[in-house]
Amino acid sequence: MRWQPLDDADAVARAAGSRILAAARRAIEARGRFDIVLAGGTTPQQVYRLLREARDAGWEHWVVWFGDERCLPVDHAGRNSRMAGQTLLDHVPIPLDQRFPIPAERGAARAAEAYEALIRRARPFDLVLLGMGADGHTASLFPGRKLPPHRLVVPVFDAPKPPPERVSLTPRALCSTRELLVLVTGAAKRDAVRAWRHGADLPIARLPCETGMEVLIDRAAWPGEGV
Ligand code: 6PG
Repeated sequence: MRWQPLDDADAVARAAGSRILAAARRAIEARGRFDIVLAGGTTPQQVYRLLREARDAGWEHWVVWFGDERCLPVDHAGRNSRMAGQTLLDHVPIPLDQRFPIPAERGAARAAEAYEALIRRARPFDLVLLGMGADGHTASLFPGRKLPPHRLVVPVFDAPKPPPERVSLTPRALCSTRELLVLVTGAAKRDAVRAWRHGADLPIARLPCETGMEVLIDRAAWPGEGV
């Protein structure tokens, strides 16, 4: 696992953009496709805006998945799929049948079941992108929740971050990837990062990933070396 402290959120976005394009190049060269799992929330938005300017990304080979989704109508402003559409997907020529939003509008339980069936065939992913909340959650995996060990996708009820009903890939699914990139910015995340580095039992700290995980973090969120 590698920590990469960078000056600010812009530097994190630029570094993330180039890591993603490099992973796409490697995957397309090796296997002719690039399976990426997008993160929700606000942190990746700048990354997505930068990515859409890339001219040589091989967009026709991208296959797009989501790490989590909020159970809201498809066109609701709070949907991760809508945010990804507005910032990236509506602007690039990824074929429509290679985009796999989580059908969270159907309700968490049905959506989780349907998405599990889809991703079961798709793994391993090439790159999973994740954010982290100030409480140490990632995707929609919140602290203190038990997860069924064999599921790849779970319904989430009573999430502490609105909306309460969500769908999330599990740690097992998120770690079925060749590379994993975590984006963390802002002073509000610093305590959670410190806890993570101290081995706290947080969802972000408990991902059973065997392949490389890199954390791109800005100075505001970085508690410093040796903590
Ligand atoms: C979501 C997420 C979530 C997010 C973190 C960080 O849909 O809410 O995918 O895990 O990545 O909460 O969110 P911010 O980037 O907004 O801080």
